Amino acid sequence: CGPLFGVSRRMRFDLPAHRYVLEALAKGSGPDEMAAEIAKMGILPVSFVAEAIADTAISADNSSGNLTTPRQLQPDKDLPPSEISLASLSNHRILQTLQELTAELTRNRWRPDDPAYHNRLMWKQLRGVAAREGGEPVAPRFIPLARPCLDETEEQAVLETIRSGWMTSGPHISAFERQFSETVRSQGAVALISCTAAIHASLVHAGIKPGDTVATTPITWASTGNTLYQMGVKPWFVDIEPHTLNLDPVRLEEALKAGAKAVIPVHMAGHPCRIGEIRALADRYGVPVIEDAAHALGAFYKGVPIGAQGTYVCFSFYAIKNITTIEGGMIATDRQEVAAELKKMAANGMSATAWDRYGRSAVPGPAVVTGPGFKYAMGNVSAAMGVCQLKKLAQFQQKRREVASRYLEKLSGVDEIILPREEPYARSAWHLFIIRLRLDRLQVGRDQFCDDLRHENVGTGIHFYGMHLHPWFREQFGDWRDRLPEATAASEEVLSLPLWPGITDRQVEAVVDAIKKVAAYRRRIKG
Ligand SMILES: Cc1ncc(COP(=O)(O)O)c(C=O)c1O
Repeated sequence: CGPLFGVSRRMRFDLPAHRYVLEALAKGSGPDEMAAEIAKMGILPVSFVAEAIADTAISADNSSGNLTTPRQLQPDKDLPPSEISLASLSNHRILQTLQELTAELTRNRWRPDDPAYHNRLMWKQLRGVAAREGGEPVAPRFIPLARPCLDETEEQAVLETIRSGWMTSGPHISAFERQFSETVRSQGAVALISCTAAIHASLVHAGIKPGDTVATTPITWASTGNTLYQMGVKPWFVDIEPHTLNLDPVRLEEALKAGAKAVIPVHMAGHPCRIGEIRALADRYGVPVIEDAAHALGAFYKGVPIGAQGTYVCFSFYAIKNITTIEGGMIATDRQEVAAELKKMAANGMSATAWDRYGRSAVPGPAVVTGPGFKYAMGNVSAAMGVCQLKKLAQFQQKRREVASRYLEKLSGVDEIILPREEPYARSAWHLFIIRLRLDRLQVGRDQFCDDLRHENVGTGIHFYGMHLHPWFREQFGDWRDRLPEATAASEEVLSLPLWPGITDRQVEAVVDAIKKVAAYRRRIKG
């Protein structure tokens, strides 16, 4: 028979068996000897099998289909005849013992044509068939869109902060704000509970009132639409540049001429928008710019960090952002007095927080409200986490760039997709890696394509479905579709690929393979 692999649709415990099959193969043995090799599993020390299972985890992560090279067995060390209890190892009920299995196999009941066993060729063929058609998924385990990157450092900092008793206000907050300010080279920074809160507080601080109109991009997160709605403010949607998905400054003037009282551009996916042009226009009309930099920590515009310039630059530390405090946000500002005012606004309009009122250096007397406020201040536990995360930012950003360049290189020949690129003025923070599908070259729409990828165990995201297309916003803000051709088209074509600093090379390879496989499967045949 040809090379035999006991490959099941869902590989788990059978991979340790592969080791023995491969051992036998290396010795040029036939099925009987292989079965005998497998049988050795029953008399191996627990530690050895556990190690084999650890190898299984590595193998199961292997997108290329090559199994782990078997470690050379050392007969004296590895094969003492001790019994192991598979049940206690894995918590599973044993349906058939290895001895019984061996007996069955050695009675020549081995059938190479049994679909439970495939040779290498079949394995390859199975991987070539789209998983939704019953083929083998490209990735053995699901690859999510993103994951937070936390370790013992954050765990320890959080634990210590909880134990200190200062969980809401406390000393980590000003440390985080100071270090953040140094990182983005701003004049001040105010830590808040979210980027949504940051945008809201900035709008209020900038004097935006019910009945006003604010210019913004439709390609953004729903929280901006909800904030404007709750404030009684009408958005004026400005269409986007198709290649960066950012607000197009050329189309902004129309909104300002129509009386927009502020502009909220987004640095989409971490790629800076043309903020210089936007600021110049807004200045000409005397209106503030509130930058949505939720994705853009680590990005540079013309060599200057996003956050270094601008009065209201709003960042997000949501779980999968470039750094996280689980939930959290920050306003970076180029004006120290604005930072002080926003700080007060975030603390219910009071100039003293609980830390100031009840700590050792407490100021006597009641805390008084001296202006409008919200309860938006970041907590001490989150800030402790933020301080740890900020230290890792440079390393995170380097990894994000590496992954983005790999995607750019490996996906460059796929005709069904358009890849993102960095404009000459920009250094992207690569929060997201957004591709656009060329729907004219595919038989299916974006959602079906994403579903095909999901079957291959690859997760994706949609950033974003235009705000003007959501039913609720359409009801509240009217039908903008005809005025936003670029944003409307992008909403049907964008999809974000898995990207986070901890993604492995194998996972990146698997994503690339899955895109190529699904693109080939769904390619429109030109006739
Ligand atoms: C572009 C954009 N703006 C604002 C937000 C809101 O951020 P947060 O969740 O911190 O409120 C997000 C969140 O994902 C976002 O992507």
